[in-house]
Amino acid sequence: MNEQLISKIEKLKKQLNAVILAHNYQPGEIQDLADFCGDSLGLSVTASKTDADVIVFCGVMFMAETAAILSPQKTVLLPDKFAGCPMADMINAEQLRVLKKKNPNALVVCYVNSTAEVKAESDYCCTSSNAVELVKSIPADREIIFIPDQHLGRHVQQRTSRNLILWPGYCTTHVLITETDIQNAKAEFPDAIVLAHPECSEPVKDLADQLLSTGQMLNFAEKSNAKQFIIATEIGIIHALKKRNPNATFIPASPRATCPNMKMITFDKIIASLQDLRYKISVPDEIRVKAKTSLDRMIEVLPTK
Ligand code: 13P
Ligand code: SF4
Repeated sequence: MNEQLISKIEKLKKQLNAVILAHNYQPGEIQDLADFCGDSLGLSVTASKTDADVIVFCGVMFMAETAAILSPQKTVLLPDKFAGCPMADMINAEQLRVLKKKNPNALVVCYVNSTAEVKAESDYCCTSSNAVELVKSIPADREIIFIPDQHLGRHVQQRTSRNLILWPGYCTTHVLITETDIQNAKAEFPDAIVLAHPECSEPVKDLADQLLSTGQMLNFAEKSNAKQFIIATEIGIIHALKKRNPNATFIPASPRATCPNMKMITFDKIIASLQDLRYKISVPDEIRVKAKTSLDRMIEVLPTK
């Protein structure tokens, strides 16, 4: 059954000169089908460089919007238009304008998990893999507003010793991982290394050995001599970790850490997307041009690990 659907997708892809990009939190079968699977930064770089005419984005709305901003001449498709990101919707452009008015000298660094309108109101975008480097690249005497993720923001504060103006946004999936989850997993697997995403809450991060983006987790596990890892992030990443490291054990910190939006993409929806060219994601020019400036600055600052 799956084989039939996959060969249909491959055929449609060829006809349209399409490429399929998937985030590391996608269901395993979608990760396996994708031409490129990665973290938010890797996906942005790939979307900006591909010579395909059509990009099918297996992820959530802000990711497809980012691809549309970086590659406006291409057709960008999101197979389910309701696949959103609750964190990205926790701040809108008007709320950001009010915050900027209150802090007129501050520069705005915005996590890529944000709407195109919010990116357009920001000076820099960042992902979890380059947020620390990006903030370090801003002169020390400049005030910085960091939106929308308070948890990534606190992580950046800690690593840069800078006092950031934070917004109270958060990932509704990562906050489901608790301190007790990590303590229980550590009690059961005392030799395991704990890898946590910076979107996790502070008590969880305090118990972690490494704080990494999903792409950095994949690289870390591959290079490490350890054989057991407790993974504190969305459970979709476990598929990619196991695939690349068949001899290691990956223990999800919590089975609750599943992002319902990331799981909305299916083979059937990808077929419908390619057949009917839906759902086309585009960004009006006046927003796109400003948002692209913040994204271009993000892509320039590559992570050091
Ligand atoms: P990264 O893959 O960049 O770590 O992003 C995590 C995330 O929550 C994406 O929605
Ligand atoms: Fe948004 Fe969190 Fe889902 Fe990522 S995992 S898309 S940040 S809700």
